[in-house]
Amino acid sequence: MELVFFVASLLLSTVSGGTTGNPADELVAALNANRTALKLASLHDNPGLGCMALQYIKAYQGRCDEANDKKPADADFAQTFAPNCGVEPSSLAQVTGRLLGCQSSYVHATEAFSNLLIHNNKSLAILYNKNHTEVGAGVSGTDGGAPYFWCVLFSNGASSSSFVLPGGVASKQRPGCYSGTNETCSGAMGGRLGGGVGILGLLLMVGFGFAL
Ligand SMILES: *[C@@H]1O[C@H](CO)[C@@H](O)[C@H](O)[C@H]1NC(C)=O
Ligand SMILES: *[C@@H]1O[C@H](CO)[C@@H](O)[C@H](O)[C@H]1NC(C)=O
Ligand SMILES: *[C@@H]1O[C@H](CO)[C@@H](O)[C@H](O)[C@H]1NC(C)=O
Ligand SMILES: *[C@@H]1O[C@H](CO)[C@@H](O)[C@H](O)[C@H]1NC(C)=O
Repeated sequence: MELVFFVASLLLSTVSGGTTGNPADELVAALNANRTALKLASLHDNPGLGCMALQYIKAYQGRCDEANDKKPADADFAQTFAPNCGVEPSSLAQVTGRLLGCQSSYVHATEAFSNLLIHNNKSLAILYNKNHTEVGAGVSGTDGGAPYFWCVLFSNGASSSSFVLPGGVASKQRPGCYSGTNETCSGAMGGRLGGGVGILGLLLMVGFGFAL
């Protein structure tokens, strides 16, 4: 009995230890904190652009070795990513920067930001570009398995009228997570949340079973 509840409370503390439970939102938070520390504007977290960042990742079809030297054609934004997300074609704005990273092990968003995505002067210049007004991040998440991709797209669009999703939500995008929705998702914490709740439920049922 005690053991069961001890394990259950451990799981609970693991679960509540997360921040938003969406690694893509956490990545945007880390990025904005880094910009505002330098007195640069905080960027609007646009879910339509975030969904497109996740689509951008999907274009690699899991091929991490291509993340360095290949990139999707510019036409894919309008022809593939936007329709897959349900972004209104007329609301597409210019993409002013992109960051992409991939690795075989899953790390926390803050670590992916500072160790994977921002790794040289070029990526730093993209991060600090004053022309960006909004941002969207996609993370392949833990539900699709390794390798783990991280993508950030920047735009100079007007936040209220660019990358518009009718009803504010993208069509189903799993596996993976995108920013701007505040939805919990299968990242490091989200993955444990999903798995943890299942185990927790089972443990609690076992606990109740004993109690009855
Ligand atoms: C912003 O990120 C860069 C790259 O990771 C890092 O070198 C810098 O120290 C960060 N700045 C702050 C204020 O955290
Ligand atoms: C990055 O920029 C800094 C400051 O402008 C410069 O001192 C450094 O040599 C640059 N590093 C590389 C790898 O270009
Ligand atoms: C910002 O936008 C202006 C106008 O399009 C362009 O000339 C300039 O090169 C951009 N700056 C950066 C850092 O991309
Ligand atoms: C997400 O949460 C933040 C902080 O609570 C809030 O400012 C933002 O408006 C929320 N975004 C959405 C799309 O609900």
